Amino acid sequence: MRILIINGPNLNILGKRDKEIYTEKTLAEIDSLLKKQGEALNVEVVTFQSNSEGALIGFIQEQSSSADGIIINPGALTHYSFSLRDALADARLPIIEVHLSNIYSREEWRAKSVIAPIVKGQISGLGWRGYVAALQTLVGELKGGNL
Ligand code: DQA
Repeated sequence: MRILIINGPNLNILGKRDKEIYTEKTLAEIDSLLKKQGEALNVEVVTFQSNSEGALIGFIQEQSSSADGIIINPGALTHYSFSLRDALADARLPIIEVHLSNIYSREEWRAKSVIAPIVKGQISGLGWRGYVAALQTLVGELKGGNL
């Protein structure tokens, strides 16, 4: 089983961005935690980050046919990228949308996700643990059975 973990614009500077809102961990630290968790769950975890909408769409188009599910934090693209939404919908895979911060408790424009209607579910406001919860849930659902 192969799970894609995708991060959008500005998430490459986690650890430097507002640590109160986001996390003290760097993206490399989060990715390495997820890879370890993937090993424990016996699934391959492929991580990708880009600041470019086109590169994210290219990655999804290239990788989705050999993947079983997607976990994505689209960054600010969450709020307006219909092309990213279309690429995710075209992947025809179960998707979990993750946000480090609670997008519903911040500026009004962040409360709207154009991605949310095409995903299985969304985790918002649980910091880096949101990715861990998403991976456990997605793999659990794909494999079936109990914990
Ligand atoms: C974010 C929330 C977005 O509104 C913001 O633009 C980000 C990060 C989050 O993880 O909380 O870049 O997706």
